[in-house]
Amino acid sequence: MQSTQISFEKLRKDFPILQRTVRDNKTLVYLDNASTTQKPNQVIDAITDYYKNHNANIHRAVYALAEEATELYEATRDKIANFIHVKNREEIIFVRGTTEAINLVAYAWGRTHIQKDDIIVTTEYEHHSNIVPWQLLTQEKGAKLEYIRMDDNGELILDDLDKYLATGKVKLVTFSLMSNVLGTITDAEKIVSKCKEYGVLTLIDGAQAVPHMPVNIEKLDCDFFAFSGHKMLGPTGIGVLWVRKSVLQTMNPFHGGGDMIREVHKYETTWNDLPYKFEAGTPNIADVIGFGAAIDYLTNLGMDNVREHEIELTNYAIEKLSQINGLTIYGTKDISKRGGVISFNFADVHPHDVAQIIDEEGIAVRSGHHCAQVLMERLNVAATSRASFYIYNTKEEIDSLINSLNKVARIFKL
Ligand code: ALA
Repeated sequence: MQSTQISFEKLRKDFPILQRTVRDNKTLVYLDNASTTQKPNQVIDAITDYYKNHNANIHRAVYALAEEATELYEATRDKIANFIHVKNREEIIFVRGTTEAINLVAYAWGRTHIQKDDIIVTTEYEHHSNIVPWQLLTQEKGAKLEYIRMDDNGELILDDLDKYLATGKVKLVTFSLMSNVLGTITDAEKIVSKCKEYGVLTLIDGAQAVPHMPVNIEKLDCDFFAFSGHKMLGPTGIGVLWVRKSVLQTMNPFHGGGDMIREVHKYETTWNDLPYKFEAGTPNIADVIGFGAAIDYLTNLGMDNVREHEIELTNYAIEKLSQINGLTIYGTKDISKRGGVISFNFADVHPHDVAQIIDEEGIAVRSGHHCAQVLMERLNVAATSRASFYIYNTKEEIDSLINSLNKVARIFKL
């Protein structure tokens, strides 16, 4: 579909929550999409339909409902494979979200492949979920965790990566494709190709990227890739870990239990085929099906169009925010290198005060450290305010944000 044929304004009617008011009868302006996105009727209806008409456990029984539930659940795996350009559906593992995906890698791969003195490299702009699991692993193994630093423009200093790779001790390089605070888009292909020269594996946290731009795993050529459903119109509690098959075959299970086994005897067990070896227990069936509806929705829109819409909104917002005296925007203003996440501080007003005052106008932004305290330290701030956009946001909503920030300026006499 061409973007000219899409009315992003019209699709707002698919989102019931956008019709409600908040606080003192104010129109809701939802600008916290990096945190989680709103859900269209199509997703809500898919979940309801499953519970009303198809509810049964999957992969176990032969009766009609169980077959229907299994088909609906497995259909989402195929939709995901198409959406992120993966050929082998058995490389796609359903998890609770990006955090669980990264922890799964740290346990099921890391605990067998990382030894004393090995190095894992991450970056200064990671979410805690791409730092803490590696701290736990490296501390347990006597290995080292190193960081690729970030420059003042919010971009990674890749000379740091060269330096660590040259030691010959790096086993994994892990980074987000888009920063959840600065919106910086990482030059993933460059990092992966540098790592390949040294035979080093790469993990990409795609939580902020997959919802907002076309992502092609074949082209990225990484080894692990993680993302979450709820940041892309889907339900909470469902996400994806993709692992290259040759790597997945070297991994032990993460959880033991039902469905991940082939045969269980008193003292030994053999494993089910991929990906089921990594999906123990009754999974989050309804939300996987809801996630499938979210992928259909985004596929119909076209991810190029989604990116184009967000470029338009982000350019507009940066231009307007830059006109406010005393307001600092963090990260690059070069739109080709960033997504629709804008972190800012307003003079010395605490970000929580900013968020609270603009909330009175119905505007929802996140304030705080955004689960990125290493980055906050690098920026030398305790917190920021953050506006983040999605398909249903409009320029009028950005105008409302600007008006509400003018109110902050009046209150604090800035
Ligand atoms: N990862 C989410 C955020 O950045 C929660 O806000």
